[in-house]
Amino acid sequence: MGERLAVVSGGGTGIGAAVARVLATDGFDVFVVGRRADVLTDTAERISWDIGRPRAVRPVVADLTDPEQVSEVVEAVGDRAVDAVVNNAGGYLGGDTGGLAGIAAHWRANLDANVLTAVLLTEALRSALRRPGGRVVLVSSIAAQRGGAGPYSAAKAALHGWAYDLAAQLGPDQITVNVVSPGYVADTEFFGDRMTPEGHAKRVAATLVGRAGVPDDIAEAVRYLIGPAAGYVTGQVLGVNGGSVLGR
Ligand SMILES: NC(=O)c1ccc[n+]([C@@H]2O[C@H](COP(=O)([O-])OP(=O)(O)OC[C@H]3O[C@@H](n4cnc5c(N)ncnc54)[C@H](OP(=O)(O)O)[C@@H]3O)[C@@H](O)[C@H]2O)c1
Repeated sequence: MGERLAVVSGGGTGIGAAVARVLATDGFDVFVVGRRADVLTDTAERISWDIGRPRAVRPVVADLTDPEQVSEVVEAVGDRAVDAVVNNAGGYLGGDTGGLAGIAAHWRANLDANVLTAVLLTEALRSALRRPGGRVVLVSSIAAQRGGAGPYSAAKAALHGWAYDLAAQLGPDQITVNVVSPGYVADTEFFGDRMTPEGHAKRVAATLVGRAGVPDDIAEAVRYLIGPAAGYVTGQVLGVNGGSVLGR
């Protein structure tokens, strides 16, 4: 068992799996949380095998929009201190926007998936966060800063305001809270079958560096914020977007 413990939501795929891999490589025990047991187990076993540390990464199955299921994570953590919570679960939820009922359902789904997942997991683990030295990271989106995706943009932007409050609340315990805001990241399940060659090319062209992001680009930013070098960084939004949005 490692000495440090991290919880990564949405850690079975994409950006979350890359975060789980860098943290496990750095010696953390990592719980990856998501709704699909098979996906989580595959990822946990693959990373643990690759780094040569059995059970370095372990699955916890929970729908983090459901307060009752969040208790699965609390149970898995037990009486250990949590060094880092990476709130990465989320995504764009499409929906029938016809009529007010449809609009309400569309907005609620995006707020639940992107805001409530982070709030419930963080609140459930708040008392277990290591004091001093704990870390909370929220994975937002470039959509929070430039719009473009309706309720998803708004939901991700909500994380920013909440992060500022949480940073103020936890700062006296030397716990930092920061937001990582990815731009376009390929090789994840985020776009499902929504991505087209034209959509990909448009997003790449919007960057200054002329390429799509990869999950490791985001994982390295999370690694920095969780590491000892970032103890004086809190309440910040770190854009990792290839220059698609500048300076905010
Ligand atoms: N890819 C991009 O271009 C991009 C850009 C900006 C921001 N982001 C953000 O980055 C984060 C990671 O996305 P990704 O690109 O890596 O896509 P992804 O592969 O779809 O990852 C999302 C993860 O969240 C989990 N998840 C979703 N809802 C959940 C819930 N209610 N409870 C628990 N787990 C849940 C999913 O697992 P289950 O389905 O098994 O639950 C999945 O592992 C998301 O918050 C996304 O909005 C992505």
